[in-house]
Amino acid sequence: MQKYISHGEDETKKIAEKFAKTTKNHIFTLIGELGAGKTIFVQGFAKGLRITEKIISPTFVLIRQHKIPATTKVLYHIDLYRLENIEDLQQLGLDEILTDPSSIILIEWAEKAKSFLPKNTVWIYFETINADQRRILIK
Ligand SMILES: Nc1ncnc2c1ncn2[C@@H]1O[C@H](COP(=O)(O)OP(=O)(O)O)[C@@H](O)[C@H]1O
Ligand SMILES: [Mg+2]
Repeated sequence: MQKYISHGEDETKKIAEKFAKTTKNHIFTLIGELGAGKTIFVQGFAKGLRITEKIISPTFVLIRQHKIPATTKVLYHIDLYRLENIEDLQQLGLDEILTDPSSIILIEWAEKAKSFLPKNTVWIYFETINADQRRILIK
């Protein structure tokens, strides 16, 4: 388990960037209230994988994909905030994405898809302490 206190957006990005460079896992959940820093974390994570494309929240499209430079891998950034039915996950192709070894997957509001997620999923929790501080827990 890794624990951090981040004192601002840039620090959260740095934590995520370092984490992306060292982790051997490929499925990550991002759990925490609106504004807790989940999308900011994905931005730092993507930077750690040398993605230069802009990372914007997939709130309405649910899934965005980004090619990971110098690899055959793809980063999937998923946001289930607006997911209404668990059945819609099938249509999104989540199962295929999760079982594809060449995908790296970050899921905001993943608690909605818990039954889909394999055992080796890494759970990342965000807690707002105040306007600038966030507690980040990686399990
Ligand atoms: N320590 C911090 N880490 C991350 N974001 C922070 C931090 N302090 C303030 N913020 C702000 O909180 C907001 C987090 O937004 P976002 O990442 O989109 O949240 P979420 O995706 O969890 O809803 C941003 O406006 C960011 O600037
Ligand atoms: Mg978000």
